[in-house]
Amino acid sequence: MSINNIFPKNFWWGAATSGPQSEGDFNKKNKSVFDYWYEVEPEAFFDNVGPKVASNFYNSYKEDIAMISEIGLNSLRTSIQWTRLIKDFETAEVDEDGVKFYNNVIDEIIKKGMIPIINLHHFDLPVELYEKYGGWESKHVVDLFVKFAKVAFDLYSDRVKYWTTFNEPIVVVEGQYLYEFHYPKVVDGKKAMQVLYNLNLASAKAIKAFRDGGYNKDDGKIGIILNLTPAYPRDKNNEEDLKASKIADDFFNNSFLDPSVKGEFPKNLVKLLEEEKVIWESTEEELEIIKNNTIDFLGVNYYQPRRVKAKEYEFDYSRGWMPDKYFDNYEMPGRRMNPYRGWEIYPEAIYDIAINVRDNYNNIPWYISENGMGVEGEEKYINSEGYIEDDYRIEFIKEHLVNLHKAIEEGANCFGYHMWTPIDCWSWSNAYKNRYGFIAVDLNTQKKTIKKSGKWIKEVSKNNGF
Ligand code: BG6
Repeated sequence: MSINNIFPKNFWWGAATSGPQSEGDFNKKNKSVFDYWYEVEPEAFFDNVGPKVASNFYNSYKEDIAMISEIGLNSLRTSIQWTRLIKDFETAEVDEDGVKFYNNVIDEIIKKGMIPIINLHHFDLPVELYEKYGGWESKHVVDLFVKFAKVAFDLYSDRVKYWTTFNEPIVVVEGQYLYEFHYPKVVDGKKAMQVLYNLNLASAKAIKAFRDGGYNKDDGKIGIILNLTPAYPRDKNNEEDLKASKIADDFFNNSFLDPSVKGEFPKNLVKLLEEEKVIWESTEEELEIIKNNTIDFLGVNYYQPRRVKAKEYEFDYSRGWMPDKYFDNYEMPGRRMNPYRGWEIYPEAIYDIAINVRDNYNNIPWYISENGMGVEGEEKYINSEGYIEDDYRIEFIKEHLVNLHKAIEEGANCFGYHMWTPIDCWSWSNAYKNRYGFIAVDLNTQKKTIKKSGKWIKEVSKNNGF
């Protein structure tokens, strides 16, 4: 077999999941905003399925990790649930069962020869902190997050060498404060911008705590996971479209990428928010913390591009100021879609992201921390041997990897590729509608079966390419 795309030595072939999406709420003493949302509005979740069982990882982590290692992955990301590890959020007193559980998970991942990457926040704010303080609107919550982070570093950094502060923090801003797809579904542009700032501050403060505590001494590294959705203009020769795409990029990508890598918010964004009188409250001291505590490495989640055009109609202020004042979404004719998720498939964007990071973000070390294809009704692809033949997923991965490989050959500093997700998992309000895993879950029995893509990735990992 000839291999056309060989990847750099020690390349991470892996997959990502999160605590709230895989564990289930077994033995968890506190509730996240998602646990609570399901309690009060179960019909907001596909087929009324909530996070109670998820993929049962709390009970089956040993078998699950064994299966994940069986498909040849050398690295695995999950997250620690704030609501599982911590009993009292103000004092950061731990819950002993949570401490033990994450100890076991980390030990098991290492025992199976995989690198654990541990994330600290995957949309799962404790609901108590929303009720008491307005969640990420509050700087007190920022400090409570740092306390939680310190506890996690203290407990596990002897074995965990790759930490990330947040997964897709812009989704918190979009889902909870602008576009109503996550509880509490507030629509408030000004609050949204304060939350955006506070999340950046929380990440920087956690990074500071990591370094001040010396958790980086023994090769420990800390980063952030951002979902980058490059904004492509309808017509790159039309100045108004181009301007619209730059603003969209500033809002949805650079608002976290710049502070995380360069320690500063994009100047044009700050100017625009000042003019609109929706700029966040900040202090000199906080801005210094952001400046001085940038990441060691970046995780990039890439699923889809964003296509925009100049505004066609005057902005409707009925719901107050919103970033959408400056651009309209553009439905490009002929774009390739994943019909189940409604997301465009555009593998070339991986190359563009890689070149952007190479040229404009100091070529910082980074990896693809999520990429994937959610498909509904995969049972119809089960073959006579009883496993799902997901050739569409293999094609999807190959196309993305070809673009990544090309960028690496041109100097992109990318050290890995992780799929969303190792084992089909629960996914917020989409619950179990679309499946993403290398390994399928039968929800009735919790039986797990390796898909064709799982067998395929094993070869890719073994050959360090395909
Ligand atoms: C990513 C998130 O954006 O997309 C995951 O980090 C999520 O948590 C994944 O599950 C897929 O999302 P969805 O909505 O298609 O199930």
